[in-house]
Amino acid sequence: MSAIGSTEVIGQVGILTIDSPPVNALGHAVRVALHEGLAELLADERVKGIVLTCAGRTFFAGADITELGKPFKEPNLDVVFEQLENREKPVVAAIFGTALGGGFEVALACHRRIAVPSAKVGLPEVLLGVLPGAGGTQRLPRLVGVEAALDIITTGNPVGAKKAHDLGLVDKLAEEGKLLEQAIAYCEELIAENAAAPLWRVRDLQDKVELSRGKPEIYADFLKKNARAFRGFKAPFNIVKTIEAAAELSFDDGMKREWELFEELVSSTESAAQRYFFFAERSTAKVSGIGKDVAKLPIKSVGVLGAGTMGGGITMNFLNAGIPVTLVETNQAALDRGIGVIRKNYENTAAKGRMTSEQVEQRMALITPSLSKNDLGEVDLIIEAVFEELGLKKEIFGELDKIAKKGAILASNTSFLDLDAIAASTSRPEDVVGLHFFSPANVMRLLEVVRGAKTRPEVVATAMNLGKIIGKVPVLSGVCDGFIANRVMVQRGFAADQLVLEGPTPEQIDKALYDYGFAMGPFAMIDLVGLDVIGRGSNERTLYSDLVALDRLGQKKNGGFYDYDEKRNATPSPVAAKVIADLAAFKGVTAKGEKSDEEIVAALLYPVVNEAAKVLEEGIALRASDIDVACVLGYNWPVYTGGPMFWADTVGLTKIVDGLKAMGIEPAKLLLEKAESGTSFTR
Ligand code: 3HC
Ligand code: NAI
Repeated sequence: MSAIGSTEVIGQVGILTIDSPPVNALGHAVRVALHEGLAELLADERVKGIVLTCAGRTFFAGADITELGKPFKEPNLDVVFEQLENREKPVVAAIFGTALGGGFEVALACHRRIAVPSAKVGLPEVLLGVLPGAGGTQRLPRLVGVEAALDIITTGNPVGAKKAHDLGLVDKLAEEGKLLEQAIAYCEELIAENAAAPLWRVRDLQDKVELSRGKPEIYADFLKKNARAFRGFKAPFNIVKTIEAAAELSFDDGMKREWELFEELVSSTESAAQRYFFFAERSTAKVSGIGKDVAKLPIKSVGVLGAGTMGGGITMNFLNAGIPVTLVETNQAALDRGIGVIRKNYENTAAKGRMTSEQVEQRMALITPSLSKNDLGEVDLIIEAVFEELGLKKEIFGELDKIAKKGAILASNTSFLDLDAIAASTSRPEDVVGLHFFSPANVMRLLEVVRGAKTRPEVVATAMNLGKIIGKVPVLSGVCDGFIANRVMVQRGFAADQLVLEGPTPEQIDKALYDYGFAMGPFAMIDLVGLDVIGRGSNERTLYSDLVALDRLGQKKNGGFYDYDEKRNATPSPVAAKVIADLAAFKGVTAKGEKSDEEIVAALLYPVVNEAAKVLEEGIALRASDIDVACVLGYNWPVYTGGPMFWADTVGLTKIVDGLKAMGIEPAKLLLEKAESGTSFTR
């Protein structure tokens, strides 16, 4: 038998263990091992029942994602399922770690499932733009009913073993550390039971799905309720159809339907983008020249300077990870306000039942409030999140240099300022790094780690690793104005400001971007943030300065690009329209006629792609996929387009180059080279 699988017989129980690091994904070699191992145990006369399990850190984590969308190599899972499900020997899946996707589908084809309490099970295929294609959509509803299945499969959220046990997805809980022996004992019980009467199989169950038969409104209502969350994605819609099939069709017909709908998804651009993104997110941490051998500095305590919008959110990340934070402000009122916001956030989470009040207190107890930087002498990492002023930041870093212990990391959360200039105000620029969080910092998953000219490798390695510890996706950036995400995305705003002078209204522009998949368009966003905030610092006459001059600050005061009623519903604003027309006349911008949504999207997003090409060309980002990760996780760029770089490749780089030239924008060198050579950023 293949080296990946091993068998053992204990009494009348045969054990098949698969060992394919890192996560026992069900690639071809694993399927071969499963098929051969099962064949051996099924043929062994001593064996009356089988325990299926894995070695390493987890039960099967799903299909091998790199194989999806490629021609299939036999044996496929159907062959394995036939061995698991249709022979006279009962099979128990012994689950630990994560049984996900195809991995959980394997478990569902076994007669019974036993799991340790720390295990998780689930069908996350939706996150890859596909659906469970190995019977998950047909078997899972038979165990938990249609409504729970809709929820589990369309969110892809894993279910903890205890809840899975309550729901019936797992039949028995084992003690931690005793999974195998208890799985064997369970298998022996099943052997005895099976001798009396054949065991039920999941595929035979009817009672739960029957309850939903002939009720199409269940699916219509579910889609309506989730319209916002599903917008732009393809997979949730096909998933709903497969679950309806589970209720309406025979098991075999349901399986056929599942496969048709799976194939439709696996060949879609949306799924290709989401699968690309799965690996993109995981590759950001790989930095050439900084291998596993580079020592990471221990971060056992943190200091945060500034308890404003960002400082508070940043602090929460560390409290959540159990790392104590000394939070420093300039005055008691600001300190109290900042800590009050943190408490309120936790209490809101607790009110939703996602945290206990004891946990709230545990986290709050990790904060040491302070009005003096001198209290930061012993912490391992200091993150500065004070006002965005270079002079102030330089002064603060100069002081920190004197206070911080030797080897401590000094980080700035600056959005746009020159990190090297900040570092130069210390005697230890090698210990200075940018830790650029995105607002709200306790929620957004992106963390840009900014490597200064002198930042030492250990500090970079520590910062990247720390990102993971606090649940972020760290993306490395070089020093430039705006780093990666802000620098490329700001182009969208500039383009919108120009386009609106040329004829399309804020409503048309916002709608085109919303339909593309952003949560809101640029003008709605500005109204939300506040025109006074966005327009600050510009000496030129702009739409912002003109609207602010009329005291139109956005949603918070008198409307901005839109008018608002008391419920904050937006309507087109005649006042804003006049401001736009007047500025266009002042600047001599002539109307360029109607634009389609596609043209609007091109006008706003091709400049983003162009800037992204420069970011790559200059070595600010290590790879194209890092830019995509930054835009998706930092700006909610729709993941089913893959991000600006993947999307650009989908559109075609020649088309983008031509579009930029037509807008009078010079294409980046790298973009031109790729377009001319017929190569791509991401494929
Ligand atoms: N296929 C291929 N590679 C996979 C993989 C998979 N299913 N799951 C993980 N990997 C790789 C990762 O890319 C990573 O590789 P790297 O070390 O070279 O970067 C390595 O395994 C370890 O993965 P993580 O860094 O994600 O490890 P964690 O311990 O943080 O998480 C996990 C483990 C929870 C299992 C997580 O990897 C995960 O969620 N995996 C994907 C699960 C999934 O989506 N399964 C469904 C697949 S689709 C399917 O099954 C279709 C079927 O219905 C027909
Ligand atoms: P903020 O104005 O909400 O908070 C700044 C806080 O710093 C205030 O509470 C202020 O009292 C305090 N402060 C000022 N000087 C101080 C000092 N010497 N010592 C201690 N505290 C001091 O500002 P915000 O939005 O939190 O921004 C902070 C930094 O984060 C800026 O550099 C900003 O560019 C950056 N940033 C902001 C983002 C955002 O969306 N707001 C996103 C990412 C980065």
